[in-house]
Amino acid sequence: MAKLIVTIDGPAGVGKSTMAKRLARELGIPYLDTGAMFRAVAWKLGEGSWDWDETRLKDELAGFDFTLSGVGEDSVLSLNGTPIGNEIRTEQVGMWASNVATLPVVRAYLKTAQQSLGARFSLVAEGRDMGTVIFPDAPHKFFLDASVEERANRRFHQLEGLGKPADLEELKEQIARRDHQDRNRAVAPLRPADDAVTIDTTELDKDRVFALLAEHA
Ligand code: C5P
Repeated sequence: MAKLIVTIDGPAGVGKSTMAKRLARELGIPYLDTGAMFRAVAWKLGEGSWDWDETRLKDELAGFDFTLSGVGEDSVLSLNGTPIGNEIRTEQVGMWASNVATLPVVRAYLKTAQQSLGARFSLVAEGRDMGTVIFPDAPHKFFLDASVEERANRRFHQLEGLGKPADLEELKEQIARRDHQDRNRAVAPLRPADDAVTIDTTELDKDRVFALLAEHA
């Protein structure tokens, strides 16, 4: 049977994961957090301790195997059989992820991994290039946006909830820097697909954003 793919793209801290999980639960399908894939790759490769040699990088990536199980917020993304945990959920790992995400070899590897998950499962897939590059034929595409101030605030509370208190001003600066890199990289830069529905969530609460998504999907 043909798989249903819904894509949700947008900048850091905009609430993509919350909406993707909720929509996936409603639809009874898995949710795919592709940011977690970039974060896990960055985490595994280690901060700057690997060289940028393409052959070595390809060898490392060949040893990575992502699998997905479960539905909605119970979806579990694993790398080599181990569920990806909260250790990747820091702004620092986000920046490492953004750095490795500029490398064409890494993007090519993850593109194949993401598309093969999309061939096996119906998905709500969230990231930066889901609607533009990975699933260009998806019937439902969304782009969520919000001001940097609002996103830093949301991230602040999210990290607090994970027991990882952060400095709000520093978060704002980090998020702006990461956005800039994500929007301006040469390969698969962050941008809305031409046929995506864009929602500015700055002034909207979660229920309102979800209602808008549900209305369109
Ligand atoms: O969404 P999240 O903040 O977890 O993503 C971490 C980083 O991974 C992003 O800043 C971006 O550079 C990269 N990413 C990407 N393409 C995706 C998902 C994430 O380049 N589809």
